[in-house]
Amino acid sequence: MQATVPAGLDRKEAEVYQRLDPKRLPKHIAIIMDGNGRWARRRHLPRIAGHRAGVSSVRSTVETASRIGIPALTLYAFSEENWKKRPAGEVSFLMGLLCRYLKAEVPTLNKNNIRLEYIGRQRELPSSVQEKMQWARDATAQNTGMVLTLALNYSARTELVDAFRSMVDAAARNGGLDHLEIDEDAVSRHLYTRHLPDPDLVVRTSGEMRLSNFLLWQLAYAEIYVTPTLWPEFRGVHLLEGIEEYQKRERRYGGLAGDGSSQHGRAEASQTRVSAPHASKTGRS
Ligand code: FPP
Repeated sequence: MQATVPAGLDRKEAEVYQRLDPKRLPKHIAIIMDGNGRWARRRHLPRIAGHRAGVSSVRSTVETASRIGIPALTLYAFSEENWKKRPAGEVSFLMGLLCRYLKAEVPTLNKNNIRLEYIGRQRELPSSVQEKMQWARDATAQNTGMVLTLALNYSARTELVDAFRSMVDAAARNGGLDHLEIDEDAVSRHLYTRHLPDPDLVVRTSGEMRLSNFLLWQLAYAEIYVTPTLWPEFRGVHLLEGIEEYQKRERRYGGLAGDGSSQHGRAEASQTRVSAPHASKTGRS
């Protein structure tokens, strides 16, 4: 039986969607958006033209994910390394682009019932950017549909350092370090992503086979889908292709094939296949 196609999908998206099992959609998809610079260079344009074009990809991906009922989508927009190591002009362009995106997009996020969140060290961003981020978060806080989380000035190692500090501080406030209890749940509760389940699927564009310091704790059991498509060319249909690939994988969480005994209990009997697109130039840190 073919799945009913959600409203708003275009013809190509509908074609891929009909091959999906709507009961096995990922609950959380994380995306490493990469390839803006290469996209621009191939067109003899400045790098910032790639970032500008990448906004249309963000829009298309967010809308499609929300239309098909993905509960959580996290986009790696800006790493701590990007923030510290890229030329000041590019960083300031990206900050302006983010502010313009937030201002323009809040009405659409509200129309689609999408709630906006952030991960990363916000306090290190310019105060005008922090204000705009706070405004957009507040303006979407009442929404109950998909949670869209933007990773900004984000580093997974920094997140872990912050989580360990936060655990020690919490123990110190609640009776002292004798009360410090560290286990996996405690670490998860102190991460920036405490509002989210761990991602089931991580997508990386532009062919690079790295995690680049993104959600290192949370991606422990995620399926990895790497596509050669450069981010400015990525659209909702490519997300659906990634989900199709995800649904072909067998998730074992360290258990045995098809034994259904893993604590996560999502072993799925199908062929395991890892996408192996052509590697290209080293891009993101
Ligand atoms: C990586 O491409 C991309 C970035 C560092 C920035 C991502 C920003 C956007 C997609 C647009 C704005 C986003 C929002 C949420 C408004 P790269 O520059 O490393 O590309 P390269 O590896 O080809 O050089």
